[in-house]
Amino acid sequence: MKQIKIFGHRGSMGTMPENTLIGFRHALELGVDGIELDVQLTKDRELVVIHDETIDRTTDGTGYVKDYNLHELKQFSAGIKFSDLELFDEQVWGNERIPTLEEVLELITPYQIELNIELKTNVFAYDGIEEKVLTLVKKFGYEKKVVYSSFHLPSILKLKRIEPSAKIAWLVVYNLSRPFEYVKSLGLEGLHLYKDIVLQDVKYGQSVDEYSIRVWTVNDQKEIEQLLARNTIETIMTDFPKDAIALRNRS
Ligand code: G3P
Ligand code: CA
Repeated sequence: MKQIKIFGHRGSMGTMPENTLIGFRHALELGVDGIELDVQLTKDRELVVIHDETIDRTTDGTGYVKDYNLHELKQFSAGIKFSDLELFDEQVWGNERIPTLEEVLELITPYQIELNIELKTNVFAYDGIEEKVLTLVKKFGYEKKVVYSSFHLPSILKLKRIEPSAKIAWLVVYNLSRPFEYVKSLGLEGLHLYKDIVLQDVKYGQSVDEYSIRVWTVNDQKEIEQLLARNTIETIMTDFPKDAIALRNRS
């Protein structure tokens, strides 16, 4: 039986500032199989790694990512807001900045871990973001290690049209009646499913060799154990990769 992979969600967001280099470095040290991250586009069309369309929640600034040039965004701390986390270090985390996707690729390329790039195109379309992401990944020769995902179907279809060989998955938050038929009809590689769908519906217990099922975001120990007991899941995405890796290695 194949070992289920563990991906650190936004790095290791349960213990480190989300979507930061320090968080991704931490996930690498834990031995994750991959990381998940979110990309948006700045005013000067740079790919930056941040979950929200605004910088308000995760930095000490305010406003939309799309309204800032990269050098302006780099003024803000991407770590200082996470003082509720146990490992908080004001000096170090305070100096952490929103990373570019390029900086993350530079960091992980020597490790050759897998990378799930989620295009946050469901609120703003970010014209041309699909081309930019594909081009950057190609520059690093990282194509085989990347799976692209989005909640926004037009973005997924565009990625597929531009680069038919890219691994692309649809992010789904609600239950579909015929998920595998749908994935096949779109020519996608997999589905990224919200955990409750997979835990509650028996159809995800079936074997689906042709497609990858990656489940997000699973933090509860019992739920992780339930998923680890199945052989139909390729990957578990979690905010606490250290705990999930320990559970997997024990099972
Ligand atoms: O890619 C899985 C998961 O990250 C999707 O939800 O809101 O955490 O980006 P969100
Ligand atoms: Ca995400």
